[in-house]
Amino acid sequence: MMAHGALIVGAGQAGLQLAVSLRDHGYDGPVTLVGDEGSYPYQRPPLSKDFLRGERGLDSLLLRKPELLRAKDIEVRTGTRVTELVAGESGGYANTSEGVELPFRHLALTTGVRPRRLPVAGSDASNVLCLRTVEDARRLQDVLGTAHRIVVVGGGFIGLEAAAVMSSQGKQVTVVEAQDRLLARVAGPVLGEFYRRMHEKRGVDVLLRTIVTGLGVGSDGRVTEVVLSDGKSLSCDAVLVGIGVERDRTFADQLGLTWDGGILVDQHARTSRAGVVAAGDCTAAPNPFADGAVVRLESVQNAVDQAKAAAASLCGAMPPKPGVPWFWSDQGAVKLQMAGLTQGYDDYLVRGEVDSETFSVIYFRQDRFIGIEAVNRPTDFMFARKVLASTGEIRRGSDTVLADPSVPLKDILVPS
Ligand code: NAI
Repeated sequence: MMAHGALIVGAGQAGLQLAVSLRDHGYDGPVTLVGDEGSYPYQRPPLSKDFLRGERGLDSLLLRKPELLRAKDIEVRTGTRVTELVAGESGGYANTSEGVELPFRHLALTTGVRPRRLPVAGSDASNVLCLRTVEDARRLQDVLGTAHRIVVVGGGFIGLEAAAVMSSQGKQVTVVEAQDRLLARVAGPVLGEFYRRMHEKRGVDVLLRTIVTGLGVGSDGRVTEVVLSDGKSLSCDAVLVGIGVERDRTFADQLGLTWDGGILVDQHARTSRAGVVAAGDCTAAPNPFADGAVVRLESVQNAVDQAKAAAASLCGAMPPKPGVPWFWSDQGAVKLQMAGLTQGYDDYLVRGEVDSETFSVIYFRQDRFIGIEAVNRPTDFMFARKVLASTGEIRRGSDTVLADPSVPLKDILVPS
């Protein structure tokens, strides 16, 4: 079969963006987007927020309407799993779960991640749930119809956003987190403590430094009890597991791609193999906002920016400048916005009153401004994001002025 066109494996945010960006660059071969989920590409962030609250349906989450994708001559194959990838010098083919062979000249991997399973017996019970896909969210909504006592395992984004929704619905929620603070992977200690108090104030129990060592399964095959590392146990009607994600290296191995905890790509989203790009959660990439260290970003911003870079690379165009990493999380009425990569910080400063639920944490490394966590302070976030995108180092200035929330950040953080 003659190899032609672009095949994009994985129909999430990155895959969809890549397909659209290929057309924006004038790619004139066939563009095929293959995804194993049943629906057209949709936004995942609302799944643990307003979709879970029942305030939005799937239609409003679709990233592009099907007719718009047809108009751009982008073929979307939903409900189709790629089972094998074979590539040669100038293209290759994919085998699919439908027994179809899909040829390609260019290949893009946007396969995302899958939720980590709880490594204890009983975790396959029907009331032990995860939250990654719209199907997962619907299953959780169904279970919440009758369940009252919910144990959330993992105090990361998924666990805390869902805990906020469920407690606002009157559920009795306990969050079990292995680390000594909440949001340890993504945020600093001020935020970890802030969210512990904020959730507790709203009726959620938070157990830190605790892991699940066992699950008690009733005669109907459902989990009724969660056994903890401190010897105690919690009675429950359902368990939601949000203990992070795993990346699958099967395709990377089949194609001989360099792997570094994810598919290693450069700043232009190119893998170690010519004609093969990758974007989104499945990748690992050197990041200028981490002084060039290889990082794995799980965010909408990264999926979109890498997909745009990947499409430009395949079309021989100049990829856009890497964007400032940014994230957001809505937990009840508390809106968190973060910009920059703050791992490796050596100092931080708090602007505003943490107890007022309106404050920012500003991070420094060797007196250089490297990132912000803004809680209900969108102006701080927007300015910090802009300043991080500008060239030149941003120096610290006066701490007294910085800590004063009435002084706009734009008057303080100035590129040198
Ligand atoms: P996460 O990595 O953000 O949090 C997982 C948490 O589980 C960590 O705090 C970790 O210490 C804890 N943990 C790990 N093993 C544990 C165990 N055995 N017992 C108790 N705690 C344990 O991952 P999460 O929350 O599952 O989210 C999954 C993905 O979804 C991530 O990629 C995340 O970035 C993304 N997401 C992003 C959102 C946002 O940006 N607002 C919202 C929801 C999800």
